Amino acid sequence: MGTESMYAVRLHSFGEPEVLVHEEVARPAPGPGEVLVRVHAAGVNPPDWYARRAFENFPVELRPAWTPPLILGSDISGTVAAVGSEVATWQVGDEVFGLVNFPGRAAGYAEYAVAPADHLARKPAGLGHVEAAAVPMAGLTAYQFVVKHLRYGPGGTVLVNGAAGGVGHFAVQLLRVAGAEQVIGVASGRHEEFLLGLGVDRFVDYTRTPAEEVVRDADLLLDTVGGPDAHRLLPTVRRGGRIAPVFLGDYRPERAAALGITLNEQMWQVRSSGSDLTELAALLDSGRVRVGIDSVHPLQEAAAAHRRAEQGHLQGKIVLQVTDR
Ligand SMILES: NC(=O)c1ccc[n+]([C@@H]2O[C@H](COP(=O)([O-])OP(=O)(O)OC[C@H]3O[C@@H](n4cnc5c(N)ncnc54)[C@H](OP(=O)(O)O)[C@@H]3O)[C@@H](O)[C@H]2O)c1
Repeated sequence: MGTESMYAVRLHSFGEPEVLVHEEVARPAPGPGEVLVRVHAAGVNPPDWYARRAFENFPVELRPAWTPPLILGSDISGTVAAVGSEVATWQVGDEVFGLVNFPGRAAGYAEYAVAPADHLARKPAGLGHVEAAAVPMAGLTAYQFVVKHLRYGPGGTVLVNGAAGGVGHFAVQLLRVAGAEQVIGVASGRHEEFLLGLGVDRFVDYTRTPAEEVVRDADLLLDTVGGPDAHRLLPTVRRGGRIAPVFLGDYRPERAAALGITLNEQMWQVRSSGSDLTELAALLDSGRVRVGIDSVHPLQEAAAAHRRAEQGHLQGKIVLQVTDR
């Protein structure tokens, strides 16, 4: 291929991590309102491997109809390489990061990616590209839940389930910033030190003690785990309290209502937002919110990154390194 090509990781069929192939493809070009980013690092998120498996863990009616060949990945950090028409906010050379086109399709596992200009924010100067690429989806989810939807204010006890993962570790810190009186983190034992270091007041190792046996009267349960037995955590929440599910789960809505617990009718969905990310970037720049990195893999080893992701028990984020910057 000529000068307008690049390397990317694509899948040509759905399946196991091995379907992710590092290959030469055409370089995309920015349209009106879009920016071309030279990607230095790309974050890996659960929807990436859900997509690789054709969203088989979603109810049929919720499965996006995506057709291979596909480049996955919605979290990027890099340098602006070109701007399309109608873009006044960014210039070539700006260092940016962002959650691109979510919910929807993006193509971040690549040397270059196109992003709507308003999905990007200036990369915090104190963060490298690997750390910045770890932030967008998980950080924005936590930020939009805690700050935008819940408008969490000072006081109260919050139970964060799945506290050490991508969303959980940002949520714990943002709840601290918001002034929660007590943040209880639920995770498996090896994450105790990590979470205490991020400001958790109390740690529950669910592999030894189920949270529902030792926690009562939480004002809020922020649950990043969900699943068919999500309702087991109902006893942890006080009458008048609230559950904010981050993933699909069976919370037995009628039982929750009888217990006086508010449960969202519909789960909130993270959305691309350069302006929300700019607000989060200020907290990252100030050091009030830190980034946990589970592991870093070269772009060409995206399959290994997905294998790691599917092993579970993540501590922070998985990132693909695209350049050595
Ligand atoms: N609503 C939205 O817009 C939105 C946005 C982003 C993500 N999500 C969803 O939210 C979920 C979490 O995303 P993520 O990026 O944070 O995933 P992640 O990085 O894989 O983290 C999941 C965490 O949960 C912990 N965990 C697993 N089983 C657990 C259990 N039974 N009890 C307590 N902790 C448990 C894991 O480690 P340990 O087991 O070792 O503690 C891991 O740290 C995913 O399902 C994702 O699809 C939804």
